[in-house]
Amino acid sequence: MSILKIARMGHPVLRVRARAVDPDEIPTPEFQRLVDDMIETMREYQGVGLAAPQVHHCLRLFVAAIGGDHDDDDDAGEAIVLVNPEIRPADGPEVEDWEGCLSVPDLRGLVPRADAILVNALDREGMPVELRASGFSARVLQHEADHLDGVLFLDRMRSLASLTFLEEYSRFWGKEPVVEE
Ligand code: NI
Repeated sequence: MSILKIARMGHPVLRVRARAVDPDEIPTPEFQRLVDDMIETMREYQGVGLAAPQVHHCLRLFVAAIGGDHDDDDDAGEAIVLVNPEIRPADGPEVEDWEGCLSVPDLRGLVPRADAILVNALDREGMPVELRASGFSARVLQHEADHLDGVLFLDRMRSLASLTFLEEYSRFWGKEPVVEE
């Protein structure tokens, strides 16, 4: 496996709508290797999610580590792999919370998101998956899905007034570490 280079804000690959993955591509060694490399890259940079456009692949694919206990560094959780995800809000409020992004390093901002969502996608075997997520997990999945449409968390902020460098975030706002996605 390899650690992949992460595109940073300003690279055009982060601003285009990624193409759907052909289900016939999923079992290929190239695709499976990309998935493995994305998981390894996400872990290397201690991210909680990583979308294919962030590693220069314009595909509707992302990985996320939302299953584990985030207070325990040794338990990163099983990474979930979602291909061609479709996300819709479930009933419930929008909530604002802090986000960061591996493609927008060292910045944090308050982003409104649906607190609960329903997701339909394919897994890395090409099997349909349906899941419901809420809270932190729902936030991560919405952030990653946005990457597939060329959207960054900055675009979702109601106001740039909360935009904060990491050092100032820790100093003035941090109640707990915010992970990058
Ligand atoms: Ni991100």
